[in-house]
Order: sequence, then structure tokens, then C-alpha cells
Amino acid sequence: MAEALRHTGATVVVTGAASGIGRALTTRLLREGANVVAFDVAADKLAELEKEAGGAALVTVTGDVSVEADVRCAHDAAVATFGGYDGLANVAGVMDWFVPAHELDDDTWERVFAVNVTGPMRTTRLALDQFLRRGRGAIVNVASEAALRGAAGGFAYTAAKHAVLGQTKSVAWAYRGEGIRCNVVCPGAVDTNLGTSATPRGDFGIDKLRPVLRLRGPSVDPDQPAGTISWLLSAEAANVTGAVLVADGGWGAG
Ligand SMILES: NC(=O)c1ccc[n+]([C@@H]2O[C@H](COP(=O)([O-])OP(=O)(O)OC[C@H]3O[C@@H](n4cnc5c(N)ncnc54)[C@H](O)[C@@H]3O)[C@@H](O)[C@H]2O)c1
Repeated sequence: MAEALRHTGATVVVTGAASGIGRALTTRLLREGANVVAFDVAADKLAELEKEAGGAALVTVTGDVSVEADVRCAHDAAVATFGGYDGLANVAGVMDWFVPAHELDDDTWERVFAVNVTGPMRTTRLALDQFLRRGRGAIVNVASEAALRGAAGGFAYTAAKHAVLGQTKSVAWAYRGEGIRCNVVCPGAVDTNLGTSATPRGDFGIDKLRPVLRLRGPSVDPDQPAGTISWLLSAEAANVTGAVLVADGGWGAG
């Protein structure tokens, strides 16, 4: 396969690594020769990952991506174990139960923004500090179809994923002369555990979305977006930065 061992010698920090897209990305990066620091809030699932894919190239760190001290643990683990890192994949995320604006409670808003927006801000800030010193680095954020339109999530998730596009473009522009790239992938439906926060809390929000959600097509295996993220992290994408890569099977083309 063309992608075999394309990350040999590289180290990547992956958030949301214990499940779904992040887990598929972690196992793929290991197959492709990378060292991986796998970060997630779910300790039990990280332990499963360790059992399945563990070895000298994998370090797992349990923590909450919205908590600075936890994120620093992942950063420090990458530095202590592998001498630093070359890539960061911001995959951790939660949905918002399709809650529309007039039904939104503060807790939902704050949690969705903490994980989906504050989290990538914290990991990106620490990674940039190191990438600037090394003169290289690649960041890939994971947004959603909800970053591109109003009809793919609730109010908080839609606003948060639009913010991830802004984070991506700001970093891509500011550091384009420093050897640092930043891109964002917008997947369509993927077969993962995200559904736990995707169960509609009421009828109003989901009823408005149904005509669009019907068009999204079947859910794909998480290795598909993982392959796209891996490519963006790799040297093959050396001149790609600030890109919003829509990987939704054509859903958004309609
Ligand atoms: N599944 C889809 O259809 C789909 C579509 C578009 C975008 N996405 C995005 O893909 C990303 C990955 O989601 P997934 O579908 O693989 O779901 P998933 O639930 O299978 O995986 C998400 C992982 O993030 C972790 N996580 C949640 N909150 C965290 C926190 N505070 N700190 C650290 N880790 C945390 C979870 O424990 C889980 O392991 C998310 O950003 C999501 O918004 C998913």
C-alpha cells in the first residue's frame, strides 16, 4: 500500500483516541510507522486500546481535553518518551443531542464548547510552542458537516464546529511561514460511539433537520476519515494548509 510506513520516525498526539475515528487513526498511524500519544477521557477504552495495539510506539494518557493540566500531561509524555512530536490530531468531540437554540441550557453549551473548541485551543497552543522551536509540525482538526451548514446538528454543536474552522484558518495563516500546517476534515456520517450524545432530546430540533439528515447516506467505517487525517499529517500533504477537506461521501455536494 502506498501509505505504508509514511510516518516512520514521526510522533503524533491524538485526542479522542479511545474510540471511533481517533481510535482508527491511532491504530492506522501505528501501522504506518508513527509513535502515538493516545489521549482520551475514557480510561477503560484506552486500556482496551493498549491491550490491542500496545507496544513501545504507543503511550496512553487519560485526561479531559478541556483541562489544561491534563493536556499538558499528554504533551509532556510525548516529549519525555519520544523527544517531542511532529503531529497533532484534534479528534475528541461530543454532540449536543440536537438541541435547538430556544431549548438550550447553559450546561450543554458549556460542555460542547469545552470539549470541541477549548480542547483544541489548549492542545494547539502547546503543540505550537514546540513546533515553532522545531520549525515544523502538522495539525489536523476534526469538524463536521455541521461546520458547513445549519442543518446537521443542534445550535451548540453547529456553532462549535464552525469555530473549529476559524481555529484552523487562523493557525494556517499565522504559521504558514514557519513550517507549520493546519487543516480541518469535515466527515459526514461515521459509524462510531458519538451516537451517545446524538440522541435527540426533543422533537423540535430533529424535526427541522430530518429532511437534510436523510440525504447523508450510509455511515462509513472510521478508518475512512482516519486515512484522510493521516494523509493530511504526512509529508505527502506538504503544501496543503488551511484546507477544509469535506469527506462526506458527497452529502454536502447536493
Ligand atoms: N461519527 C460521526 O458521524 C461524526 C461525523 C462528523 C464529525 N465527527 C467528529 O469526529 C470526532 C470523533 O468522534 P467519533 O465519531 O469518533 O465519536 P466517539 O464518541 O466514538 O469518539 C470520541 C472520543 O472522544 C473522547 N472524548 C470525549 N470528550 C472528551 C474529553 N473531554 N477529553 C478527551 N476525550 C474526550 C471520547 O471518550 C471518545 O473516545 C468528533 O470531533 C466528532 O464531532 C463525527
